[in-house]
Amino acid sequence: MIELLPSILSADFAHLADQVAAAERGGGTVIHVDVMDGHFVPNITIGPLVVNSLRKVTGLPLDCHLMIENPDEFIPAFADAGANWVSVHYETCRHLHRSLELIAQHGMEPAVVLNPATRVDLITDILPLVHHVLIMSVNPGFGGQKFIPFSLEKIRQLVRLRQDLGLAFRIEVDGGVAHDTVASVVQAGADLLVAGNAVFGAGNPERDARALLMAAREAANDSQGMTSKIL
Ligand code: DX5
Ligand code: ZN
Repeated sequence: MIELLPSILSADFAHLADQVAAAERGGGTVIHVDVMDGHFVPNITIGPLVVNSLRKVTGLPLDCHLMIENPDEFIPAFADAGANWVSVHYETCRHLHRSLELIAQHGMEPAVVLNPATRVDLITDILPLVHHVLIMSVNPGFGGQKFIPFSLEKIRQLVRLRQDLGLAFRIEVDGGVAHDTVASVVQAGADLLVAGNAVFGAGNPERDARALLMAAREAANDSQGMTSKIL
């Protein structure tokens, strides 16, 4: 099932509860929270305190994307704050297997994130542990960047790998997902679509979430139609 994950990075932080509520009315089903430390990525954003505040104003799952060094140190704090999904970058984890287990031990859904330059096959062995894999389709750090086209091939590789291994993890894509890219992202096989600028950038998150989700679902239906024609 295709789901839209509004990324609050592009929201108006002075009115965060209202912005999240509007994105939910527009069809967002998981809230994506970008956590940046100014070390792993060249930007600083928010942490467990804001997750804790969000927890009080929305019933939607909170998907915390940790773009931080030493993520293990902060996993308990995100659990206490009410995070539901936590993803860690392959590039920051010396002991990725341990980090994923730590997330699961804290009652959250574990996920791994790959930067654009990181190969999909590097995570083959830990795929049975993850709830989803997040493919970065921009270099992490900022909203509103341009989609990197070769991310589509990485999504397709991951779909093949999932099939070969008989697994059921979901595939999330993050960065530059907007009207001009969403159809190809869905057709490549991603089902969790993160969007910041395309949802919050024009000041009408309800309308823009709804339109983006509709475009994504149309693309999914089209590709299903194509498959049944081929069969
Ligand atoms: C970038 C973040 C993204 C960001 C995406 O490092 O991980 O979640 O919000 O923003 P858009 O959708 O504007 O590219
Ligand atoms: Zn993100």
